Amino acid sequence: MIKHRLNLVISLSLLGIFLTAIQVSSAPLFYIKAKKGMVSTQDHYASKVGLDVLKKGGNAVDAAYAIGYALAVTHPQAGNLGGGGFMVLYDANSDKTVALDYREKAPLAAHKDLFLLENGKVSKTKSRFSALSVGVPGTVLGLETAHQRYGRLDRKVLLDYAIKLAEKGFVVQDDLEIALKRYKVNLEKHEETKAVFFKGNNIYKTGDMLKQPALAKTLKRIKKHGSKDFYHGKIAKQLVRYIKSKGGIITKDDLQKYQPVWRDVVTGKYKNLRIASMPPPSSGGIALIQSLNILSHFDIRAMGHNSAETMHIMSDTLKYVYSDRARYLGDTDFVDVPTKKLISKQYAETIANKISTQNIVNSDDVFQGAISIKESTDTTHFVVVDKDGNSVSNTYTLNFTFGNGMLAPKLGFLLNNEMDDFSAKPGVPNAYGLIGNEQNSIEPEKRMLSSMTPTIVFKNNKPFIITGSPGGSQIITTVLQVILNVVDHDMTIRDAVSAKRFHHQGKPDYLFVEKGFSKETIKELKEKGFLIKEAGSIGSAQSITRDDEGMLGAADPRKKNASALGL
Ligand code: GLY
Repeated sequence: MIKHRLNLVISLSLLGIFLTAIQVSSAPLFYIKAKKGMVSTQDHYASKVGLDVLKKGGNAVDAAYAIGYALAVTHPQAGNLGGGGFMVLYDANSDKTVALDYREKAPLAAHKDLFLLENGKVSKTKSRFSALSVGVPGTVLGLETAHQRYGRLDRKVLLDYAIKLAEKGFVVQDDLEIALKRYKVNLEKHEETKAVFFKGNNIYKTGDMLKQPALAKTLKRIKKHGSKDFYHGKIAKQLVRYIKSKGGIITKDDLQKYQPVWRDVVTGKYKNLRIASMPPPSSGGIALIQSLNILSHFDIRAMGHNSAETMHIMSDTLKYVYSDRARYLGDTDFVDVPTKKLISKQYAETIANKISTQNIVNSDDVFQGAISIKESTDTTHFVVVDKDGNSVSNTYTLNFTFGNGMLAPKLGFLLNNEMDDFSAKPGVPNAYGLIGNEQNSIEPEKRMLSSMTPTIVFKNNKPFIITGSPGGSQIITTVLQVILNVVDHDMTIRDAVSAKRFHHQGKPDYLFVEKGFSKETIKELKEKGFLIKEAGSIGSAQSITRDDEGMLGAADPRKKNASALGL
């Protein structure tokens, strides 16, 4: 992706043709083969936008930029302007893989005890559903930063897709209705949110046309003025005013100071493959590589896919990995994280030596302390590969589905509740049941620890698996299973993505399983001493594999409107 802006002068009539095209929604596709480019997102409209950008000669980052904004309109439960995320991208021209951190930051006025009540207890209402739960958003500057460095097409043209979807409207699809139904009670507390996603007292339903004029206006301002308006201009002013009116502490200084950061990817080796993933403030890359290092001491292939033996070894591995996550991980701009040690082969060997199929590891011994859990499966992930092999793996989020539920009225976008990802009090779990310690305590301008794991796996130095997932703490185990399914269990990416998943994070001490595992396996695991809990669905792993034959795309069938499209 040479920085070689074409500054395409696309005539209005041509623009009209492709903008009309994205309004036509055909049935989503979950699996597709292609040669010249591929996108997979959790929302069919966004996949169509990405595909169209590739068709028009855009590269993977152009497509990612347009998809990022399209999802903010058609998949508002996680797509966003008011949140943040991570992008791992491979640039074929320089043969480099880089990570862009556009995670939200704590406001300048935030402090360690922000969410503590007088009695010393954590107020979950404050950390999840108040204006104090909002981290300084990073998405708008993040997408622009990626595009500025690697994009080819005119940014303004790429924004037209989202503007059109917001202004002219789109037909609501099942996943949005399902999410609105699930979060209705929280959303209807906010008049501004209700005004967008409700018709009177009822949510928008599948088949309804949803228009978002205020969001369209905001997008037009971003088109005209770029991210400057969001962080320094009129949008910033309105955003700060609204947050303040609701008791929040984000100021204009917070927005003005916000900057995304280019970071080195965290890398590891598994068999003949190189893994490149997200470094802190995500825990995802380190946890993934640490898990693979430990698992390389076991013959996962011979043990078999989703056998009791494999699930035992993987679960015990994850107990150690998640306890290290809790103990050591935080924003490396503020705290020292022993990354080198955590991803070293030697350290993995010491852990592997403690794991055996003879008996199960005691989570209390590894963690010390009992923890409860409330699971939430939010966030969204998309992947793009273009004809030159440039690859983007992007996960971004509002944290909870629809963030904290508040919507900036004149701006039309939802606010995140990412501050809940900090440890409000060491030892107390966040919404994903993840415990953190001092490393992840709240400090002004610090980034909260994340589990998002946008990943690119390389074979013969070329991108081979491009994957990632939403799902809070389940993201790491989802990505791990997709990779193992392809590498050790010889699955196509379709089978790897759709295969039944399980999850263990040590605390709470449950082995979570999706519906459909064999009764014998579950019985065996129970006999070994695992506490089994049925989970709804785990993750949503939009993924692509690429080799000399071409590309295979897989959208996760766990979501009804996910689609992989290629050309
Ligand atoms: N808020 C979910 C994550 O960052 O992992």
